[in-house]
Amino acid sequence: QSIVVQITEESGSPQISKHIYGHFAEHLGRCIYEGLYVGEENKIIPNTDGVRNDIIEALKELNIPNLRWPGGCFADTYHWKDGVGPKEDRPTIVNRWWGGTTEDNSFGTHNFLNLCEELGAEPYLSANVGSGTVQELIDWVQYTNHDGISPMADWRRENGREEPWKVKYWGVGNETWGCGGNMTAEYYADIYRQYATFMPGWSGETEVYRIASGASEDDYHWTETLMKNVPHELMEAVALHDYAVIDWSNKGPSVNFDDEIYFKSMEQALKMEEYVTKHIEIMDKYDPEGKVDLFVDEWGGWYDAEPEVKNGVLYQQNTIRDVMIAGTVLNTFNNHARRVKMANLAQMVNVLQAVILTDEEKMIKTPTYHVMHMYKVHQDAQLLPSKIDKNKMFRGLPALSVSASRDQAGKIHISLVNIDPENNMPVELDISGLDIKNINGQVLTSDRLQDYNSFDDPEKVTPKEFKGAKLKKGKISLVIPAHSLIVLQGK
Ligand code: AHR
Repeated sequence: QSIVVQITEESGSPQISKHIYGHFAEHLGRCIYEGLYVGEENKIIPNTDGVRNDIIEALKELNIPNLRWPGGCFADTYHWKDGVGPKEDRPTIVNRWWGGTTEDNSFGTHNFLNLCEELGAEPYLSANVGSGTVQELIDWVQYTNHDGISPMADWRRENGREEPWKVKYWGVGNETWGCGGNMTAEYYADIYRQYATFMPGWSGETEVYRIASGASEDDYHWTETLMKNVPHELMEAVALHDYAVIDWSNKGPSVNFDDEIYFKSMEQALKMEEYVTKHIEIMDKYDPEGKVDLFVDEWGGWYDAEPEVKNGVLYQQNTIRDVMIAGTVLNTFNNHARRVKMANLAQMVNVLQAVILTDEEKMIKTPTYHVMHMYKVHQDAQLLPSKIDKNKMFRGLPALSVSASRDQAGKIHISLVNIDPENNMPVELDISGLDIKNINGQVLTSDRLQDYNSFDDPEKVTPKEFKGAKLKKGKISLVIPAHSLIVLQGK
């Protein structure tokens, strides 16, 4: 018996913001140092201003719309002035959140913003509220964005950059309920108002987008307090954090998960749907016009696997389990495109659900990289609402997840994920209103859920052509193999 999915085209249906496909790079483990940044003086690994060329190339293929930096928890200990000016004058600091390692500040604001420029990505700077000052943040805005004469703009020029970068996205603290200062929602709302007051006015015509540090998972009180206590003209977005955190007790490598852990991983990942729905309900109550966006600026799978610490803090292997997590979560974001306007996968290189792993001069693309590549077709496309009639269940979880869109060239794209580890899934997609004549697609899967791309076998999990979709009289029939992700394209 096939599962029937209705896919329709509705006028007024939202555009899926390309920023849902954003990334996050923190000073954590080997994400920046020994990861994307190998230093300008490195003669072995080809690089541009110290950033690996192979990573730049791989990221360009993803059309990365935005990149968040420098944290994470690190952001609320980071003093940006330490990372500009002559490298030999920069202080060496302790990364007190992530392993207590020392950093020489050789990667700083210029490196990051130039990298974003090279990638064609909007930078998203996460500012220090927990241990910083309002003045420090104002100075950063002025340094990156002011094009006239001012102490900070002049300093930027002295440091070799004439034109301002015009940074639009600014995070006002990170996880201020935890590592960003252990604040109450009420206290942070007040602090936020203070910071947000002074941020605009330095950037000429550029709109400065102020992002409040939002709730963790189901902390609805946090969202309600921000929406109630902060005037909406001071706050362009609130940023939720939600990881599929599992397996904290596992002392083996993160690929050694069993059926039970897989189930728990999916149970956690699918909670995103519930959290996003409920946070949006609160936002709708206080802001029916939809002026304040919901961002999810940290998400992904998080498995604590001690032996992998040798590869840097929070390094983990990325398998078909991660394909299932990324596919279902991105479908949730697409389907809530009316309010969800940005999301950032944590983290880009060598940390958590990374899209890229490095080992000295080697670099590989993880299975999650391929999901982001397959899903990039949804960037700035119009959402096509989909309705699943009688979903199949995998131990009480909905086994099929779907999202669909029509891009600006008129092509439709349908993303389908079958999280059932063992059972193939017959599906019928009713697209009778969409005027589609041809259909093709790609599938991402592997024999075992635990399969991954290694430095010895970097192509083990890669997308393959999918020929199993048949289009007849406005209906597409296909069988989605167990633990597989498919993206169909029609025109
Ligand atoms: O991404 C890793 C950490 O997770 C970030 O530093 C923090 O914001 C979150 O708790």
